[in-house]
Amino acid sequence: MKIGLLTSGGDTPGMNAVITGAFIYAKKYGHELIGFKYGWKGILEKDYVDENYLKEKVIKDSFLQWGGTVLRSSRTNPYKKDKGIEIIKKNLKELKIDALIAIGGEDTLGTANKLYNDGVNIVGVPKTIDNDLSATDYTFGFNTAFSIATDSLEKLHTTARSHSRTLVVEIMGRHSGWLTLYAAIAGRAHLALIPEFPISLDKINEIVKKRYEDKQKYCIIAVSEGYELSEFESEKTELDEFGHKSLAKFHIAEKIAERIQKDTGIETRSVVLGHVQRSGSPNAYDRVLAYRLGVKAAELVINEKFGFMSSLKGDQIVTVSLEQAVSKLKVVDENHWESAKPLFGL
Ligand code: F6P
Repeated sequence: MKIGLLTSGGDTPGMNAVITGAFIYAKKYGHELIGFKYGWKGILEKDYVDENYLKEKVIKDSFLQWGGTVLRSSRTNPYKKDKGIEIIKKNLKELKIDALIAIGGEDTLGTANKLYNDGVNIVGVPKTIDNDLSATDYTFGFNTAFSIATDSLEKLHTTARSHSRTLVVEIMGRHSGWLTLYAAIAGRAHLALIPEFPISLDKINEIVKKRYEDKQKYCIIAVSEGYELSEFESEKTELDEFGHKSLAKFHIAEKIAERIQKDTGIETRSVVLGHVQRSGSPNAYDRVLAYRLGVKAAELVINEKFGFMSSLKGDQIVTVSLEQAVSKLKVVDENHWESAKPLFGL
């Protein structure tokens, strides 16, 4: 069998470990692998690396522990390209590709599911630092990203305390608050603002003021980039090929910081953690999770179980349908929020 691999969407620590797992397993059973570059764009443009390149990365460079993706990535949507699906099918046929492994998040797996329904042999691997994919307990990359955000929050305590400032720290995660909530608990932020459970500006001000009345005289607030407050009107920004707004352009941390300072008179600054959250090497947990997900994906392809993805359930790697995986966004649930609330004095 000739298998094509691709990594698509925002790069995530652990992508190279997935490729390693898929490569090692597929080779063990005598199959050939090539890697398309820049996600779906690589298939549209027949831009790929051959098996020797992958072999060198996997065996010689031991790139399992490297961050990013050696295959590069893009947010190309083949369904938005003129004759995109026709070209994909034609190119796969010309390259004699029997099946694809698509490593990606909500958008990539949504595309993979559509392609499967359009007759392409494909399996998925759930990747995203946002952890917002249904049908898997955790996505690889999330653990590394929330650990980076935790580390940053922890560091920010010292400068905030020294200057008796309030810091509003913006954390990625799109419309789900997993990254913010986990980092806020582990980095001991004094408040987490997540899209699923919004809090009014009055309440935020009250919590900040209390920190100063209680003589702590500094405050760390973690806020999700996708947090919305009715006080701030929704603004229009450009959409990407999958219809997403660039949330970084909303500057939610800056807006909240300005309002806190204006309403309370307390010196308040904003900090945006940005892409550092998904940069660098995957941590040990994500390396193992990603590797195991890659092995399972190759197994699915070899067994011709197309239209499925590898997924984490408890401590086991299992199989779920792509349909199920992209059916709805996984957001922070009531139980997680209820257990976190007392930590934030809510
Ligand atoms: O989905 C991962 C993610 O890092 C989100 O948390 C963030 O909103 C988005 O990607 C940023 O995308 P880009 O790097 O394309 O601006």
